[in-house]
Amino acid sequence: MPKIRTVYLCTECGGESHRWEGQCPHCKAWNTLVEERVRPAPATRGERAAGSDASAVVLADVQGVERPRWQIGLAELDFVLGGGVVPGSLVLLGGEPGIGKSTLLLQVSARLCGAGHKVLYVSGEESAYQVKLRAERLPEATDDVLVLAETSAELVIDRVDQIEPDVLVIDSVQTLYTERLESAPGSVAQVREVAAVLQRLAKRREMAAFIVGHVTKEGGIAGPKTLEHIVDVVLYFESPTGLDHRIVRGTKNRFGAADEIALFRMGAQGLEPVDNPSAMFLQGRPDRASGSAVVAALEGTRPLLVEVQALVNKSVYGSPQRVATGFDGRRLALLLAVLERRARLRTSDLDVFLNVVGGLRLSEPATDLGVIAAVASAIRDVMLDPEAVFVGEVGLGGEVRPVRQLERRLGEAGRLGFKRAFLARSSEIAEKGAPVALEKVPDVGRLIDVLFG
Ligand code: TYD
Ligand code: MG
Repeated sequence: MPKIRTVYLCTECGGESHRWEGQCPHCKAWNTLVEERVRPAPATRGERAAGSDASAVVLADVQGVERPRWQIGLAELDFVLGGGVVPGSLVLLGGEPGIGKSTLLLQVSARLCGAGHKVLYVSGEESAYQVKLRAERLPEATDDVLVLAETSAELVIDRVDQIEPDVLVIDSVQTLYTERLESAPGSVAQVREVAAVLQRLAKRREMAAFIVGHVTKEGGIAGPKTLEHIVDVVLYFESPTGLDHRIVRGTKNRFGAADEIALFRMGAQGLEPVDNPSAMFLQGRPDRASGSAVVAALEGTRPLLVEVQALVNKSVYGSPQRVATGFDGRRLALLLAVLERRARLRTSDLDVFLNVVGGLRLSEPATDLGVIAAVASAIRDVMLDPEAVFVGEVGLGGEVRPVRQLERRLGEAGRLGFKRAFLARSSEIAEKGAPVALEKVPDVGRLIDVLFG
């Protein structure tokens, strides 16, 4: 039996050290090293065989068949995955407890099962009966999904080799443990090892595997960042407002664009896709209030119309307050300075509050113009045209700059009934055939003139 050795693993990056240190020598994080006892395992026969007959080939001679992706049938999720599930891939789904990870993966299981794939759902957290209780609430037929309540990785692999499923769900990776390691389930070494084992298993069997990962207080997936490096796709489940809607965000995708989002609503019968995300984020817009502007943002490749609200107040203290929710505070300060210097709109004695509705976070410069418009509208206390959207980056000279993917953004605005768009004069788009009327402005000063006369 190989000797057990003690190593220190970083909970942040998974890096290994031979002695305890206050700071991880790999990622420089403080107080993240934990002691783990590992028993190095002999390489399995499968791995050795794969290694011995491998020879290099020139790319021109590489042959293979493009395997079709499997459609889940939840259009939003297929979209985030890049067009469906890729056989042989390992997908990690992270999220806080209670957000709906088990529900979503049970729905995915049911749908893939309905499409004729063999699905094995391994639950390390709940009994088969608990899984059944959840399944009964769902609209999908779950009868043929195979359930296994088990926490031993070796046993799961045995069953997989026996059952030969097309799709494997592991709920969750933190409950699974391999007997090769001494450390407790959920520890860095275990999570890392289990994920690596599952990755090899998925590749070897050409099976799609989904694993649930719990999220730490800081919002990362519990277990180290290495977990994210091992898997092919990383999805995060978020609840931006604490309301019923949920966002599944792709942060890594080896088979498609990362950064795509999917929107769901958690109802009494599981998660339902939201077909029209922009319309949802615009719900409940005040129709008679100043300080509200709609921006056409981009989430991944998808345009999303979002309302930005500003509120200003005479500052009673020496230094005015600037509070931004869903927007970078420093960027707001910069835009306020631009407003004051380039558009002669006094902001330096005002408290300014900015809020992005729906709990979204806007990080693109393309939303600058909308922020400027919302703040100016609040200062003047004049309502903006409710049928106008704003798209443009604002520079320090007060100039309005063009943004990428303009057609997509304007297309979404037109689709939702918006009539006008304010944008950079230098934008390369023809007036004719545009989905909305174009109000081209060269700079912030001109924008204020056009808006408020
Ligand atoms: P769950 O999938 O168990 O979350 P996770 O696996 O991420 O911990 O979902 C838990 C919550 O979802 C729970 O509070 C009940 C709620 N829920 C619904 O609102 N509707 C449903 O149809 C189901 C199955 C769950
Ligand atoms: Mg769960």
